[in-house]
Amino acid sequence: MPELEVEGAGTFDVDEDRRLVLAIEEDAGVDIMHQCGSHAHCATCRVEFLEGDPEDMTEAEHALLEMRELLGEARLSCQILVEHDMKVRVLMTVSETGANSPGGKPEEEITPPPIYIERPY
Ligand code: FES
Repeated sequence: MPELEVEGAGTFDVDEDRRLVLAIEEDAGVDIMHQCGSHAHCATCRVEFLEGDPEDMTEAEHALLEMRELLGEARLSCQILVEHDMKVRVLMTVSETGANSPGGKPEEEITPPPIYIERPY
């Protein structure tokens, strides 16, 4: 079972292949934003990887990170599965942004259906 460390929240055992945004929200109890409902449209689910940055990324994640000029700076937790030990810093939370809600509930599976490419850095 992979270990997920969320900076400031602790370390948690997470079911392998759990969607990272859900692991952060439900397993670690951190109020991470996911405004678009985790469909790779908003980038509010962004995290910084301190350890275990996955080698691949979905095309949808790549396109949005490039558009927002975040490539190499952040990853989208809605587009990542917890396949191994990871340590992350959550960059946008409900409490810090003052938002009314985190956004629509993410589905268990990655949406849109993932097409993987190699991480370009
Ligand atoms: S891009 Fe919107 S929740 Fe991930």
